[in-house]
Amino acid sequence: MRKSQYKKLSPIFIERWSPRAFSSKPVPEEDLMTCFEAARWAPSCYNEQPYIFVYAKEDKALKEFQSILVEGNRVWAEKAPVLVVVFAKKSFEKNPKPNRWAQFDSGSAFMSFVLQAHMLGLACHGMGGFDPEKAYAVCKVDPQKYTALCVFAMGYQGDKLELPLQYQEKEEPNDRKELAKIVFAEKVGLI
Ligand SMILES: Cc1cc2nc3c(=O)[nH]c(=O)nc-3n(C[C@H](O)[C@H](O)[C@H](O)COP(=O)(O)O)c2cc1C
Repeated sequence: MRKSQYKKLSPIFIERWSPRAFSSKPVPEEDLMTCFEAARWAPSCYNEQPYIFVYAKEDKALKEFQSILVEGNRVWAEKAPVLVVVFAKKSFEKNPKPNRWAQFDSGSAFMSFVLQAHMLGLACHGMGGFDPEKAYAVCKVDPQKYTALCVFAMGYQGDKLELPLQYQEKEEPNDRKELAKIVFAEKVGLI
């Protein structure tokens, strides 16, 4: 059940969800780049934009990116026509201090990408289930400088009946905690 009591809420927030069934229909280059452009405009601490997105959409590269994923994700994500790995830069550009907001900023950029994708009729599904060491190797990213945060699949939503059986029953938008469990006026107290 996906609804809100707040009538002014833009439908985009509850209509977006993360399917596992992807069609292999290619994503137009213009649409893919439009989503990266949305990510580019996300806010970040000191405007550092500490994220990099490494994507694959050609067969050979897609195979390599699929090999980064844990089996439980690979079985459904291998149909997606685009896979993206998100990395966050560990330290600031202007000084060598650790940027402890980099992952927060990368999440913002990811969400901008995802919402823009939704507006273009495309779906995304984030995955923490991947091997970071493989991600650094496949994407040729220096693990001393960057943290591999997430891989996500992008594409047009596909037919749920083409998913492995165990995923078919889970292929529904899920719900959320009540607002009162995550938002507090002035203090939290004992929770
Ligand atoms: C950082 C991150 C990691 C995730 N890891 C996985 C994953 O490894 N496998 C998976 O099937 N879904 C994964 N998800 C998807 C979440 O389970 C999903 O976003 C959440 O249940 C909310 O559902 P919704 O996106 O459909 O609203 C991940 C999402 C995020 C943002």
